[in-house]
Amino acid sequence: MTPDLMEAGARQRAAFDARQQAAHGGSFSKASGRPVRAGVPDFAQGVALYLDDVTVSFDGFKALNALSLAINVGELRCIIGPNGAGKTTMMDIITGKTRPDAGRVFFGSNIDLLRLTEPEVAQVGIGRKFQKPTVYEQLSVLQNLELSLRNDRGVAASLFARLSSTQNDRLGELLTLIHLKTEAHRTAGLLSHGQKQWLEIGMLLAQDPKLLLLDEPVAGMTDEETERTAELFLTLEGQHSLVVVEHDMKFVDQLTEGRKKVTVLHEGRVLADGLLSEVQANPEVVEVYLGR
Ligand SMILES: Nc1ncnc2c1ncn2[C@@H]1O[C@H](COP(=O)(O)OP(=O)(O)OP(=O)(O)O)[C@@H](O)[C@H]1O
Ligand SMILES: [Mg+2]
Repeated sequence: MTPDLMEAGARQRAAFDARQQAAHGGSFSKASGRPVRAGVPDFAQGVALYLDDVTVSFDGFKALNALSLAINVGELRCIIGPNGAGKTTMMDIITGKTRPDAGRVFFGSNIDLLRLTEPEVAQVGIGRKFQKPTVYEQLSVLQNLELSLRNDRGVAASLFARLSSTQNDRLGELLTLIHLKTEAHRTAGLLSHGQKQWLEIGMLLAQDPKLLLLDEPVAGMTDEETERTAELFLTLEGQHSLVVVEHDMKFVDQLTEGRKKVTVLHEGRVLADGLLSEVQANPEVVEVYLGR
């Protein structure tokens, strides 16, 4: 790396810090380096996420219709339901991408998510995985993860600063967790679709979110990749709360381990919840979804 480039990196980093200070009044979390203006969630009541009576209409059509839902701290909850049920819209509401017409959405017992911007929702500890993987194709697996560990300080600036030994340890852990240790120096663009999905999950985890929202994470994966993804999510359960939207019932079955509750959405509200075997035997659910 040339001195010129290093200097450019340092300048960019300083400019970034100055912008953050200006935007967030200089208050940063010591642990993560993230601004804490948006608040720190209180999980003492055991609830990670709480939606109450949430309604949103698009041109008079109710994509969510008085949706109420609670996810416990450390819970892995699968959400299923037919196309157009409102599953993705629900994630859009939680992450501040779409604003509801009515209802309340809380993270922990204290953070009103409806008052936060999209970046603030990420800062308080909610990570979202979209269906299409979005990694930096030209960078290596390792570089992609490094960037996320450094809190998105801008590509150039991030790659120049040295990682702390704790951050290096974390990188190693993440590579193992997402099954990409042997691919660390490979260009991300050359990974399989499934591997890119894992890399993006690793990038989310690098930011240490308390709640992960995963929208159809195994779409397009091979059977083997799907199974390994389920194993990965099961290892995350407990340390993180996870909301997983999926149509793949074999995957949902693996995640619920015959004992966890799934929620069925239909027409913007909860149609049923219970064990997968219970909802699969529910005539209403079969009618609108599983019997297709
Ligand atoms: N921004 C928007 N503008 C207009 N209509 C929208 C918008 N977002 C979602 N919708 C509509 O809201 C309904 C719910 O869509 P949503 O994407 O949430 O469904 P979904 O449960 O995620 O379905 P799928 O399983 O197909 O992903 C659909 O009828 C969709 O067309
Ligand atoms: Mg969707």
